[in-house]
Amino acid sequence: MNAPAPNSYRNQPDERGHFGEFGGRYVAETLMPLILELEREYRRAKADPAFAAEFDDLLEHYVGRPSPLYYAPRLTEELRKTAPEGKGAQVWFKRDELNHTGAHKINNCVGQILLAMRMGKTRIIAETGAGQHGVATATVCARFGLPCVIYMGAVDVARQQPNVFRMKLLGAEVIPVESGAKTLKDAMNEALRDWVAHVHDTFYIIGTAAGPHPYPELVRDFQSVIGREARAQMLDRIGRLPDLLVAAIGGGSNAIGLFHPFLDDPSVKMLGVEAAGHGLDKLHAASLAGGRPGILHGNKTYLLQDDDGQILEGHSISAGLDYPGIGPEHAWLKESGRVDYTYATDVEALDAFQLLCRTEGIIPALEPSHAIAAVERIAPTMDRDAIILANLCGRGDKDIFSVAEHLGVTL
Ligand SMILES: Cc1ncc(COP(=O)(O)O)c(C=O)c1O
Repeated sequence: MNAPAPNSYRNQPDERGHFGEFGGRYVAETLMPLILELEREYRRAKADPAFAAEFDDLLEHYVGRPSPLYYAPRLTEELRKTAPEGKGAQVWFKRDELNHTGAHKINNCVGQILLAMRMGKTRIIAETGAGQHGVATATVCARFGLPCVIYMGAVDVARQQPNVFRMKLLGAEVIPVESGAKTLKDAMNEALRDWVAHVHDTFYIIGTAAGPHPYPELVRDFQSVIGREARAQMLDRIGRLPDLLVAAIGGGSNAIGLFHPFLDDPSVKMLGVEAAGHGLDKLHAASLAGGRPGILHGNKTYLLQDDDGQILEGHSISAGLDYPGIGPEHAWLKESGRVDYTYATDVEALDAFQLLCRTEGIIPALEPSHAIAAVERIAPTMDRDAIILANLCGRGDKDIFSVAEHLGVTL
C-alpha cells in the first residue's frame, strides 16, 4: 500500500498516540516501560516483511481470508418495498462472520500473538465481554502452545456459557471477575492489574481498538485487512467504490478496520452504529451519542459517566457492544466530521437480526444486527444505484439463546 499523504486521515495517531485530543497513554508507571517496549517492537514488526508474510499466511490458511464480498439481493428488494420511487440502495456485506471462530476478532488476535512471540513473551492474558475475543485469544494460544488466562465479568460468564465452555475446551483458564458491575469494563481493569503484576513474561491481547497507545493503532492495523480486502473486491466486482460503509461499534475495532483504508476516499461516506439499548434516555451503550470525554483504560475518549466522572455501566442486548467507552480514533473521526455516528436500540437490532435470517439465510450476531438496523433506515432514502457496504462482523450462533429468550421462545 502507498504511504498516506501528510494531511491524510490515515496518518494518525501522532508519535505520542494522540488522535487529535483523544488517545494517549495514561498508564501506571510500572506499565510505561512495557508500553514503550511494545511500541518499539510493533514499529519493527510493521517494517519487517517477514512479519507481514506470516500474518498474511495465517489469515489465509488458518482464518480463511479473504472473506467474501456479498450482494444481498432479497434484503435489497425487501427494503425497496418501503422506498419512494427510484430509491432503495443496493446492500452488500463483507462476510467476516465466516472467519474461523465466527467473528472479526481473530484477525487482531493472530497479529498480536505474533507480536507477543517476537517479544519473547510466554504467557497471554485477555479480557472478554461477549466471549468472542476470549475465544479468538484462546484459539491462537492453542495454535501456538502458549498458556492463556481470560478475564471475564461474572455476569458475562453467566450469560455467555457456550463461549466460556469453548474457551475452556481450547485450554484457557477463564477467571470470573466479581468487582464492579462484573462485566467487560471490570474484566479489562482486572487484566490490566494482572499485566502490572506480571510485566516480564506476559503479553496482554486487547480485543478492541481502545486502551493505551499503541493498542488502538495496532488493533486498527490488524483489522484493516477487512477494509483493504473490501476495497479491492469492490473495485474488482463492480469497478467502483461503495457510497456508504456501515459498521457496528463496541470499542470500534471492526468499524475502524473497515473504514480506515477508505478514509482518504472523499466519495465514500461512513456510518458507525452504537448500541442504544433501551433508548438514549434509559440504559444504553452509546458513548458518542450519550457520553462525554474522559479517561479510562489508558486513553482519553468519549465515555458514559455520571456528573462526578464515575463510569456508568453500558447496556445492550448484545454483550459485545456494552463497553461504556469507544476507541479514541472514532472520537476523533466524529469530531473531525469524517465519519457519522448513529445508534440502534435493542428492539431495532432484534428486528434486523430476524430480517437478515429470513431474507438472506444468514444468522448474524447481535452486534452487526445493529449495523443492519441502520442500513434498514438508510437504504430506502438513497438512490437505487447507490451502494451500501455493511460489515457482517460476527455470526449468530452464540446469540440464539438470548434471541430466543427475548422472543419469548423456550428452547
Ligand atoms: C461479533 C462482534 N462484533 C462486534 C463486536 C464489538 O467490538 P468492536 O467494536 O471492537 O468491533 C464484538 C465484541 O465482542 C463482537 O463479538
